Amino acid sequence: MNAVLQNSQAESGSCRTFSSPTSLTLSGGPPPGPSPALPHAYQQGIQDFYGRDFIITQDVLIPRPETEQLIDAVLNLAGKPYLPGVKPSKRQLPKSPIILDVGTGSGCIAITLAKELPEATVYATDISKPALKIAQKNAAKHNAPIVLIISHLLEKVNNVDLPIPDVIVANLPYVDETWDWLDKAALAKEPSIALYAPDHGLRLIKQLISQAAALHIKYLVLESDPCQHNKVIKYAESHQYQLFDVRGFITTYKLI
Ligand SMILES: C[S@@+](CC[C@H](N)C(=O)[O-])C[C@H]1O[C@@H](n2cnc3c(N)ncnc32)[C@H](O)[C@@H]1O
Repeated sequence: MNAVLQNSQAESGSCRTFSSPTSLTLSGGPPPGPSPALPHAYQQGIQDFYGRDFIITQDVLIPRPETEQLIDAVLNLAGKPYLPGVKPSKRQLPKSPIILDVGTGSGCIAITLAKELPEATVYATDISKPALKIAQKNAAKHNAPIVLIISHLLEKVNNVDLPIPDVIVANLPYVDETWDWLDKAALAKEPSIALYAPDHGLRLIKQLISQAAALHIKYLVLESDPCQHNKVIKYAESHQYQLFDVRGFITTYKLI
């Protein structure tokens, strides 16, 4: 496990924070002239994620390129090739896994996984009703058979509304309002419920880990800033989750 860590930002403690939304464009770089007040993705109403266009409004976070590695991490768990020339791990998930995306926003993660892993059953939750409406539109646009449910973290996972998943994926809010490198003005147009969390940005991630451990969920694939990784890894280990993989902003855990 340490070998994995030594090669990651987790050990160096470097912080990157995710891409500024003003730098995100459909293609061909930012529009000419001064930075628009509204990020280009909101102006266009669309943002690329993992090669597909997603409908975006100010009800949802603009999908970030760093989150695409979360898709690679799940394909790796499923033993599927995700990058030319890179051999995936031995398959860890069942052949037809149940995947739950917590904090789905635009639905970009859940829909991409449903398209890339058609044998999977994909559920997606969010606490925000307006966000779920956008995710629903994106699911229809991409003809992706995902099930959308309003829920605070895992509170609806009870085998009635939502079965116990084989893997949870989550890009929950993890921005710490006190980070001194934070460009709050650049984030001002995005919903704060999608960005900020108390306890140095880690409250929701920690709550999710505790809830997942109580439900004996086998794999967790989580996004956080690399400077938070050591804290997340420690918290996960204290809940019997061992670090399985680190790539960029994404850490993967296996229940032991
Ligand atoms: C960082 S955004 C991620 C959106 C999308 N998954 C992506 O990667 O672009 C976090 C999402 O978590 C949702 N969220 C915030 N608090 C939540 C909670 N307690 N339970 C479930 N979802 C929550 C927000 O509404 C938001 O859509």
